[in-house]
Amino acid sequence: MTAMTNTKIKIAPSILSADFARLGEQVAEATKAGADLIHVDVMDGHFVPQITFGELAVAAIRKYTTLPLDVHLMIESPEDQIAQFAKAGADIITVHIEPCPHIHRVIQLIKNTGVKAGISINPATSLSMIDEILPEVDLVLVMSVNPGFGGQTFIESTLDKIARLRAELDKRKLNIELEVDGGINVKTAPRVVKCGATALVAGAAIFNSGDSIDQAIKKLRQSLV
Ligand code: DX5
Ligand code: ZN
Repeated sequence: MTAMTNTKIKIAPSILSADFARLGEQVAEATKAGADLIHVDVMDGHFVPQITFGELAVAAIRKYTTLPLDVHLMIESPEDQIAQFAKAGADIITVHIEPCPHIHRVIQLIKNTGVKAGISINPATSLSMIDEILPEVDLVLVMSVNPGFGGQTFIESTLDKIARLRAELDKRKLNIELEVDGGINVKTAPRVVKCGATALVAGAAIFNSGDSIDQAIKKLRQSLV
């Protein structure tokens, strides 16, 4: 469970909670503040109710950071959009298991574009759904809220799921990123890391905390020590 204690935990600010009118500036600020990834939440108004960014927005923010762009597709039929997001500058493309009956094909499609492939799983989806695809992916994104909105409360039952996934990855010697997304703040971050997460997505806690982006990232990191 504590296998990753000495590894540097990655922090991925989610720009869903950033000021959309100043996106470039805020991405640059998060980069300067020591973020490890920039998390981009793509929503289509179908798989989740809101509509957010398309590939043009990804291409635009690409110019404001040298960090990897961690693109989280909360969309139906993601296979139709992968080439566009890869071309726009995504470094990691993560799709959900729930809208993808042919997940093996979708993951291969992502890898064939030359970017890293991630699989995401909703709070009520069983880990068994991603069991077979684990050896094929670079990252697993465990949702700790129901996807669709920033600023929601962390769902406690996902802690046990993260710990079970960590045990499974260790057992199978799969050295892949275990990223957790939703309701991450200074209180929940150390708990999910203790369960074996290696990367944390945080939106409201970084862009809406009342602190500067720099301060908020520092506080999140300090909470892990
Ligand atoms: C939720 C998104 C998250 C979201 C997290 O659907 O996938 O990345 O921005 O926001 P917070 O950290 O505010 O819960
Ligand atoms: Zn996300």
